[in-house]
Amino acid sequence: MLMSAARTVVITGAGAGIGRATARLFGAQGDRVGLLSRGAAGLDGAAKDVQNAGGQALPIATDVADYGAVEAAADDIERAFGPIDVWVNNAFTSVFAPFHEISPDEYRRVTEVSYLGFVHGTMVALARMRERDAGTIVQVGSALGSRAIPLQSAYCGAKHAINGFTESVRTELMHEHSKIRITLVQMPAVNTPQFSWVRSRLPRHPQPVPPIYQPEIAARAVLFAAKHPQRKEYWVGSTTVATILGQRLAPALLDRYLAKTGYSSQQTDQPMSTDHPDNLWEPVDSDTNKDHGPHGAFDDRAHNRAPQVWLSQHKHALTGAGAATVAATAALGLRRRYR
Ligand SMILES: NC(=O)c1ccc[n+]([C@@H]2O[C@H](COP(=O)([O-])OP(=O)(O)OC[C@H]3O[C@@H](n4cnc5c(N)ncnc54)[C@H](OP(=O)(O)O)[C@@H]3O)[C@@H](O)[C@H]2O)c1
Repeated sequence: MLMSAARTVVITGAGAGIGRATARLFGAQGDRVGLLSRGAAGLDGAAKDVQNAGGQALPIATDVADYGAVEAAADDIERAFGPIDVWVNNAFTSVFAPFHEISPDEYRRVTEVSYLGFVHGTMVALARMRERDAGTIVQVGSALGSRAIPLQSAYCGAKHAINGFTESVRTELMHEHSKIRITLVQMPAVNTPQFSWVRSRLPRHPQPVPPIYQPEIAARAVLFAAKHPQRKEYWVGSTTVATILGQRLAPALLDRYLAKTGYSSQQTDQPMSTDHPDNLWEPVDSDTNKDHGPHGAFDDRAHNRAPQVWLSQHKHALTGAGAATVAATAALGLRRRYR
């Protein structure tokens, strides 16, 4: 049974990870879902997921760094499914390495995919939504868009930039009394394939900094934000709350804490060769034709529940005393750990 009137939804980076889990949920609502990413195996898998869940799917191989390709995909989706109601910007890539080991070309590529990919999606979506003065754009952000960490400078820069340009666009829409909404969903560490296929120069296998959440939790938050886009942003997971508030309260303390712990907390004990296939320029599944799906390698360590997400979705529940308590606890914890 459909929960609401079916909508036309576009998700970038829909072939794997959070985008893939999100596509499934929109499909389960009976929505018509345009799926954008590059690899054929991931796109085919995502389309099957959406259809099996009860929705309609249109997979389109698209590199989000290419504005023309994103625009052409949007045209195809509107021709097939009608006006786009919801656009989810989610696709990304990164290089896990110290800043001085990243080449200018790699930096540019991460920025073009992870930052400009969101700009392109927003431009293309807004151009269509403005004609109707209706629609919702959801940006999949990160706690690392408020607090940068070592070994991910290009990614953290992109995530900060997304926050900045989104705020700017929101104020322009408000100035115009537009009915279009743009909201951010700031994610915690999530168990997705990125930690196995992002370009890495780290000696050991990259990992999300624990606690790790399953991508379905992130996907439910995106779905909620798409239905309730009047909020400026959503914070998913208690670590996201602690990180953002901790940064506001004690940024210098976080600098010292992350300088001390940030290298080890982003790697498992397992050695990893630095020449494994990565997704920076091409999708990994173009060689292997393997569908990686929504989950990464950390199912045994990932949480299926995040009580804070419920709190953040219920208005004002995590403000005032609640937020102050989380922030104070985080700051205290950091202080203790640093000592
Ligand atoms: N996982 C986490 O811990 C975490 C934490 C905070 C925020 N987030 C955010 O969540 C979002 C998704 O991350 P994830 O962990 O789910 O990533 P992921 O597992 O690496 O999946 C990324 C998706 O993007 C696609 N993609 C990569 N490069 C692309 C390009 N140039 N053009 C189009 N699609 C491209 C990939 O498919 P192809 O390679 O086939 O194109 C894949 O479908 C990102 O915005 C990330 O910042 C994730």
